[in-house]
Amino acid sequence: MQTIFSGIQPSGSVTLGNYIGAMKQFIELQNEYNCFYCIVDQHAITVPQDAKKLRENIRSLAALYLAIGLDPEKATLFIQSEVPAHAQAGWMLQCVSYIGELERMTQFKDKSQGKEAVVAGLLTYPPLMAGDILLYNADLVPVGEDQKQHIELTRDLAERFNKKYREIFTIPDARIPKEGARIMSLQDPTKKMSKSDPNPKSYIALLDDPKQIEKKIKSAVTDSEGIVKFDKENKPGISNLLTIYSNFSNKSIEEIETFYEGKGYGDFKADLAEVVLNEIRPIQERYYDFLNSPKLDEILDAGAEKANKVASKTVKKMENAMGLGRKRK
Ligand code: AQP
Repeated sequence: MQTIFSGIQPSGSVTLGNYIGAMKQFIELQNEYNCFYCIVDQHAITVPQDAKKLRENIRSLAALYLAIGLDPEKATLFIQSEVPAHAQAGWMLQCVSYIGELERMTQFKDKSQGKEAVVAGLLTYPPLMAGDILLYNADLVPVGEDQKQHIELTRDLAERFNKKYREIFTIPDARIPKEGARIMSLQDPTKKMSKSDPNPKSYIALLDDPKQIEKKIKSAVTDSEGIVKFDKENKPGISNLLTIYSNFSNKSIEEIETFYEGKGYGDFKADLAEVVLNEIRPIQERYYDFLNSPKLDEILDAGAEKANKVASKTVKKMENAMGLGRKRK
């Protein structure tokens, strides 16, 4: 059975972008693969976080994973900082990474832009992410399009390590959905929807109140033409909404375009809100059940134990290959 690894940062409230681009795939794949799904809290601290809020976000994200359908009997759910092998592997992989290749990462450029003091972790986050994936010898990594560059770097680092030291790592492939790999901001459809966007109107969070979701969809930026048609270049706003509609309704974009022929954006947006809410309402109900249940911590404890077993073995192999410490099995 092949292995999958993927993670989400507890850096805010999970958006429709994270859900469509990554999390929906997690659930589809859990029956066919050995899956490790991680709450990557160590990645979240590459930008400022409030400690209390971060703790809340970690539990919240865990409950959300379960609410969308993650089955802890099938997939391992755990918190990155509870498995020390991640930081250990991250350091070793930093020592095979070049500063130049890290500086070329789009996410580093975006997140460091205009900042007076840029923390080193923002630059060295990709080798930590490479470690996350390589520790489990993952064959596949389901992610949205924005993470493609990081997976390519992971492959480069794994190949470099295998060549320089010993053949330890499986070379992973990214699994990017055909549609919905890049959901755009509702307020600026040329920009990716992000959970840390300071403008909450730009994203829909899975935990947003239904009234808020209706309002956010209503105020989503479109164009003055009033024709429901997919045209990413000239009509990025409505095209983004069509992608979301298609994903939530399982209808093709063409079918939706045909249905809204002669109708305006008002009707389309009202129906879109309904389609989105039909899927989100039951997720929200299950979310609160998990959040308030002691089962959540039991699942995370069991997940950390299982992940620790696998990851610490890989770390030992890495240390032995690099000549760190004394030889151990
Ligand atoms: N807009 C998006 N469309 C499709 N997929 C997306 N992903 C993120 N945004 C979109 C995918 O969600 C997964 C988890 O992402 P992450 O939490 O590791 O960090 P990110 O990619 O940086 O996501 P955000 O929401 O933009 O977080 P912040 O604001 O904290 O940086 C990944 O698979 C990602 O591709």
